[in-house]
Amino acid sequence: MPEKILPPPAHIGIIMDGNGRWAKKHFQPRSLGHRAGAQNFRTITRYASRIGVKVLTVYAFSTENWARPAEEVGALMKLFKDYLQEALRDFMDENIRVRFIGDTSAFSSELRELIEEVKQASAPKTGMVLNLAMNYGGRAEILRGARAFAQEVLAGQHRPEELTEELFDSYLYTAGQPAPDLIIRPSGEQRVSNFLLWQCAYAEFVYFDILWPDFTTDDLDRAIAVYHSRQRRFGGV
Ligand code: IPE
Ligand code: IPE
Ligand code: MG
Repeated sequence: MPEKILPPPAHIGIIMDGNGRWAKKHFQPRSLGHRAGAQNFRTITRYASRIGVKVLTVYAFSTENWARPAEEVGALMKLFKDYLQEALRDFMDENIRVRFIGDTSAFSSELRELIEEVKQASAPKTGMVLNLAMNYGGRAEILRGARAFAQEVLAGQHRPEELTEELFDSYLYTAGQPAPDLIIRPSGEQRVSNFLLWQCAYAEFVYFDILWPDFTTDDLDRAIAVYHSRQRRFGGV
């Protein structure tokens, strides 16, 4: 299969959507859909690392997802705890460097401690960078960067006119990383839902009518093949 031979793009983003509908389809509570989605996250992450993806950013919880019923938010928090504990074992063997993008200060102290542990344990890793977007919103990220820069201007460390696109990039959670080349959204929705707003300027979007728990490694290969079939022009001809 030619698509298996083509190298993956350096940075892939995935909006892991459709867990709730998957649960409904199976006459199960939504929390079970999230569990199935989290399981698939591990499968796809491991595969991405093995095929040579340099950066994988997965959208796990948005700044807007707090608006869901308390029961569902609670189930998601429980799931994050379970999976971070497993990640401590799992991703360590895979040489995956785990980073967190988003405002993690909003999480419980228990979850924040786990996040710290995972960050520290995976810091020496040299393989794929896995950005876990948790309590992440593209707008919030841009505001956070703008505020940080404004503070430095106030402190006399910068002048406003020094702010370039490259410099602003360094105020984002993804500082130093290449911009996403390919963004995949399963579940049938065709929208960005506040994911990597600044970084996605020239990303290729690939949508799937597949719910996230059903998204397979073959689907990832397909998305990469579609990516290679596109002509990126970056505004040129
Ligand atoms: C994505 O699945 C997971 C999160 C947003 C946390 P959804 O829960 O949005 O699933 P659908 O869109 O309702 O099917
Ligand atoms: C986007 O999915 C967020 C995550 C997958 C974490 P949503 O289900 O929250 O997005 P909308 O509400 O359909 O736009
Ligand atoms: Mg959804």
